[in-house]
Amino acid sequence: MSGTRTFTMIKPDAVKAGHIGAILERINAAGFRIAAMKYTQLSKRDAELFYAVHAERPFYGELVEFMSSGPIVAAILEKDNAVEDFRILIGSTNPAEAAEGTIRKAFAKSIGENAIHGSDSDENAAIECAFHFSGREIF
Ligand code: RTP
Ligand code: MG
Repeated sequence: MSGTRTFTMIKPDAVKAGHIGAILERINAAGFRIAAMKYTQLSKRDAELFYAVHAERPFYGELVEFMSSGPIVAAILEKDNAVEDFRILIGSTNPAEAAEGTIRKAFAKSIGENAIHGSDSDENAAIECAFHFSGREIF
């Protein structure tokens, strides 16, 4: 059975552009409950660790620079089938390929600066939630 939690970040591009409210509205409208949330900024080291799985990819340096370039909103979201349903809500990594009605279609600028993160598996969701939140920050 698939899990009920996923992890998200509203990325620095979308925060800078003033889209926090509009993105949270879509997340709520899609039936996700916010179990934890913070407005914070990743250090370069935080971003390196968070995206360590991509360390060998050609875009890793750019990704780390971008993700640590300004504040983000980090959150834990709850819903049945959370990981898969949230990936559908955010749309394809490349906004040019993102479906109509998705968050990336509406707010992402490019494949690198693509507005929002969503966990890609239940296992990674648990790791990412624990990376950003302690037990007493989750409600
Ligand atoms: P995310 O982890 O942020 O939710 O994104 P994703 O699963 O849709 O995509 P992933 O393959 O995990 O890539 C992580 C992030 O790296 C940046 N990226 N840039 N320039 C490029 O070709 C490229 N490819 C990926 C994006 O910010 C992507 O979200
Ligand atoms: Mg990913």
